[in-house]
Amino acid sequence: MIEYRNVRVALLGAGSVGSQVARLLLEQGDDLAGRAGAGLELVGIGVRDVDAPRDVELPRELYTTDVESLILGADIVVELIGGIEPARSYVLQALNSGADVITGNKALLASHGPELFDAAEQVGAQVYYEAAVAGAIPIIRPLRDSLAGDRVQRIMGIVNGTTNFILDRMDTDGDTLESALATATELGYAEADPTADIEGYDAAQKAAILAGLAFHTAVPLSAVHREGITQVTHEQVVAARKAGYVVKILAICERLTDEDGVEGVSARVYPALVPLGHPLAAVHGAKNAVFVEAEAAGDLMFYGAGAGGVETASAVLGDLVSAARRHVIGGPGVAESTHANLPVFPIGHVTTRYQITLDVADQPGVLAEVAGVLSSHGVSVQNVEQSVGTEAVEGEPLATATLIIGTHRARESDLAATVATLKNSTVVNSVTSVLRVEGA
Ligand code: HSE
Repeated sequence: MIEYRNVRVALLGAGSVGSQVARLLLEQGDDLAGRAGAGLELVGIGVRDVDAPRDVELPRELYTTDVESLILGADIVVELIGGIEPARSYVLQALNSGADVITGNKALLASHGPELFDAAEQVGAQVYYEAAVAGAIPIIRPLRDSLAGDRVQRIMGIVNGTTNFILDRMDTDGDTLESALATATELGYAEADPTADIEGYDAAQKAAILAGLAFHTAVPLSAVHREGITQVTHEQVVAARKAGYVVKILAICERLTDEDGVEGVSARVYPALVPLGHPLAAVHGAKNAVFVEAEAAGDLMFYGAGAGGVETASAVLGDLVSAARRHVIGGPGVAESTHANLPVFPIGHVTTRYQITLDVADQPGVLAEVAGVLSSHGVSVQNVEQSVGTEAVEGEPLATATLIIGTHRARESDLAATVATLKNSTVVNSVTSVLRVEGA
């Protein structure tokens, strides 16, 4: 029998992920020790209330409310509390005491990442966070290690299961946003405050983390453009399918060169039209997927469960084995690489394709006038489809038509100016929808 040195693991939080991490650690300790080359000794679980009801039964003596002492006695601290405080203070305390930290806390990393990474670097510790983006899906390590020798051009991620579930229900079952959200909440996908999901905050945090890793640049959360799904209508979803698309909310991280030849990056979250033939269009329900376009590797897609207690625990345990191995071998942790230090461009710099739907007067010259507006802003039309809305009847209001205009790639600021002009045009009754087209 091999005698392993023990690595002391403190777990903070016993929610759906934390309790599964503790269960698996206790049940599969021997296997994990064999893989890590060290025994993973769970020295305690820091909680607010020792007697709170929990999904998984664990030895009561593991629980403690004395979190600070628990941290001080650990080699590795696993933070699964979530939120900013007290998680931030605990993580800093752990790092300052020389412990490695494993966290699934996307909000903390997106808003305080540099502070935590600096603290880790000071003492040669490391912050591991595979569980922070897309739950069980390995995406942090592939970006950090496997693709470290490549140049990532673009990432398109479905990184929020709740909103993917809602949009999928609207598309496949004709469900309303409200009723699909209620189902997602019942099924446990949604955040405690589902605003974080439907307004895109959760996806924006993940976009900031992914963009930082992919482009070796610190990407502050405030620089991530964010639009949620609350404005997505049933009509848009139906029209999208008819036109060969599906509406998906995407986290997009992209390398860009602006008009002056300056290289930078963009990180943004918004609902977009994705062609039905794109691999992301086949991501249904609450599943997540991250599509990576790299210069040498080409297109890669990572797919799986983006949430869930036991699924996310898999990512945490993977980090735990890595951290324990490093403890056995010794040496400092791997610091975050932000050497590229690229500027993060605002949304106006982005170029993409658009689909604009207009309700217009059905009369001579309308098409020419609309085309003139686009051309005056440098936006080039790729295709136009017209369907008649109301027929003209004598004595009745003017006949109307629906114009669906697909554009070539255009700059977001030009498109915004185009839409503003169209809204004021006398031949346009209303701009009924503007959606970006991604992955075409
Ligand atoms: N509320 C999140 C989601 C959980 O729906 O994907 C995982 O971050």
